[in-house]
Amino acid sequence: MSSPQPLAQAGTLDIRPLTGALGCEIHGVDVAHLSDSEYAAVYQAFLDYSVVVFRDQELDEASFAAFGQRFARLEDEPFLPNKTKTPGVYFFRGAGGQKKLSTQNLGWHMDHSYQKNPSLGAMLYALEVPRAGGDTLFSSSYLAYEYLSEPMKDFLKDKLAIHDVLQYGMNSGHFAISQVEALERLAMMRKKFPQVEHPLVTTHPETGRPMLFINKAWTTAIKGLHPHESRPILDMLKEHSLQDRFQCRVRWYNKTLMLWDNRCVQHSPNVDYTEPRIMLRVALHSDWVPQPLS
Ligand SMILES: [Fe+2]
Repeated sequence: MSSPQPLAQAGTLDIRPLTGALGCEIHGVDVAHLSDSEYAAVYQAFLDYSVVVFRDQELDEASFAAFGQRFARLEDEPFLPNKTKTPGVYFFRGAGGQKKLSTQNLGWHMDHSYQKNPSLGAMLYALEVPRAGGDTLFSSSYLAYEYLSEPMKDFLKDKLAIHDVLQYGMNSGHFAISQVEALERLAMMRKKFPQVEHPLVTTHPETGRPMLFINKAWTTAIKGLHPHESRPILDMLKEHSLQDRFQCRVRWYNKTLMLWDNRCVQHSPNVDYTEPRIMLRVALHSDWVPQPLS
């Protein structure tokens, strides 16, 4: 594996990798009061590890939003219903709390890949999480590319993929699509977000590393291929990209803050819990448009 190298402490930061693939915990900082040099070290860890976790952070909506705004403009979430009083900050309520396991699960995805500009990243802050379950999993798109065979890399290098928000309804169970209301909602989402095309292989705009730009939820076809050709190749790439060795898994506790680089990871929330799971969430905007390899 060639991913995260730095084990060093940057300034006062105590950086502890989560796996050999990606992810780290950073200890010894208060994100509400980061100095400029501490923030620079956190940002470098964000680029190096793709997933960054902080424990025991004391945040309210305003300080959570302010930390997000150090990274980027907060993105609007037109279809998330639970706005807080603070612009750009949303309550994120898991499906637990019914004393039985949920059937709703979007599963592996990237946020907003069905837009021309996929999100730069997202942050979640745990207000109340289950005593057990509800972990979040991440998988590295860098490693997914790196560990393809050379002939497959060559085949994919100039291919475009279709990303489609309609898959949300098909995959997640969040809407029972037999219901008229659910169909109307899906139609509304599709109207706002028509299908987009992104290269299957692109480079990260800041690290310059190549990555397989695919996600299980929204990537629906390879442009120019017949459906019976595209489907098995995409299925193979999705399975390939989600191997255990490319992943890390984050356990939640109250006051955990997590941030990830949405450009180079897929993530998946486990729904193996029955107790309430309430978080604050912001999405970080990027003007990046994925470009084919040059
Ligand atoms: Fe997500």
